[in-house]
Amino acid sequence: MKQIVKLKVNGVEQEATVETRHTLLDVLRGEFKLFGAREGCGIGMCGACTVLLDGKPVSSCARCSSTASP
Ligand code: FES
Repeated sequence: MKQIVKLKVNGVEQEATVETRHTLLDVLRGEFKLFGAREGCGIGMCGACTVLLDGKPVSSCARCSSTASP
C-alpha cells in the first residue's frame, strides 16, 4: 500500500508517494536524495541515522515515514 507523505526538510516542503512500510530514513535517502543520515544497525540502536524531527533527535530507521508527516 502506498501513502503520500509531506515533510518540511531543511526548510523546504517536500512530498512523495511511498510504501507504507518505508521508514523515514528510506524516504529521506530514497525519495529526497538526502544522504546525510546513514543506515547502521537498522534497529534504532546506533544513532547513525539520527535526524531532527520537530527539533528533537530521532532514529529515522525506526520511525515510520507516515508518523513524520504532519
Ligand atoms: S541505523 Fe542505527 S539507529 Fe538507525
